[in-house]
Amino acid sequence: MASITYIEHDGTEHVVDVKPGLSVMEGAIRNNVPGIDADCGGACACATCHVYVDEAWREATGKPSAMEESMLDFAEEVEPNSRLSCQIRVSDALSGLVVRLPQNQH
Ligand code: FES
Repeated sequence: MASITYIEHDGTEHVVDVKPGLSVMEGAIRNNVPGIDADCGGACACATCHVYVDEAWREATGKPSAMEESMLDFAEEVEPNSRLSCQIRVSDALSGLVVRLPQNQH
């Protein structure tokens, strides 16, 4: 299991164990972490699973694909560390990952 910390916009932290192979989005949904809507179910087609990856984890989580980049255009308040959490695959190497949730998902 990989430990993932999700921090809501108001600062509430949720530290959950996520099975490797799932996405960071699925880890949130399965553990009832609020703040990720995931309307498309992980198909990289809605941008409602927007998260900000903690700076220390940007390299480990990699760069968004061209498709993810274009979907991020539909998210609000996109920053250089913005990612769509359905596109980040959890692995043991990502244990300790910290992501912050935006105020709104659009
Ligand atoms: S769940 Fe729709 S883009 Fe991630």
